[in-house]
Amino acid sequence: MLAAGALHSIAETGTGYGVGLARLASGAAPGTRLTSVERDPNRARIAAEVFGDCSDVVILHGDWQRVEEHGPYDLLVLDGGGQAKGSGAADPARLLAAGGTVVIDDFTPATTWPPRFNGAPDQSRLHWLEYPELRATELRLAADLSVIVGTRLPAS
Ligand SMILES: C[S@@+](CC[C@H](N)C(=O)[O-])C[C@H]1O[C@@H](n2cnc3c(N)ncnc32)[C@H](O)[C@@H]1O
Repeated sequence: MLAAGALHSIAETGTGYGVGLARLASGAAPGTRLTSVERDPNRARIAAEVFGDCSDVVILHGDWQRVEEHGPYDLLVLDGGGQAKGSGAADPARLLAAGGTVVIDDFTPATTWPPRFNGAPDQSRLHWLEYPELRATELRLAADLSVIVGTRLPAS
């Protein structure tokens, strides 16, 4: 659904074997460029083979920061690096077009405010929910799974 709203470009960190990327590609309009980065060489190679016939899809092997080689993006999905969970944080002001959307996967649903994780304030979640140039919220997808979705505000 979010891919369908991305007019020009989509990026993902953490390609894996390309399952999520296939969903993004199938939702995107023809001509939308998709870039995905995977640090594991074997996964990157296999995913590149899977998408070998898709000229709109580029798989980059390396650390997640390689998404910075392109962009800005209309949709940025952080599923392997850049989530502010210890491997750095992607910069929405640099990587997202105005009105663009960032998705940060793999949280457990918050039950308190401020959100807590392992008994301490959850700095990763707070990073995204309070990011000044985003309007972000947490969406619960299952009893044990939530994502944060944020939209970049237009420059004022
Ligand atoms: C949860 S899996 C991704 C699944 C995939 N997005 C999907 O939906 O099918 C996370 C992937 O991120 C990759 N990864 C983890 N840290 C990374 C980093 N710093 N830079 C690039 N890739 C990373 C892992 O090797 C792994 O393949």
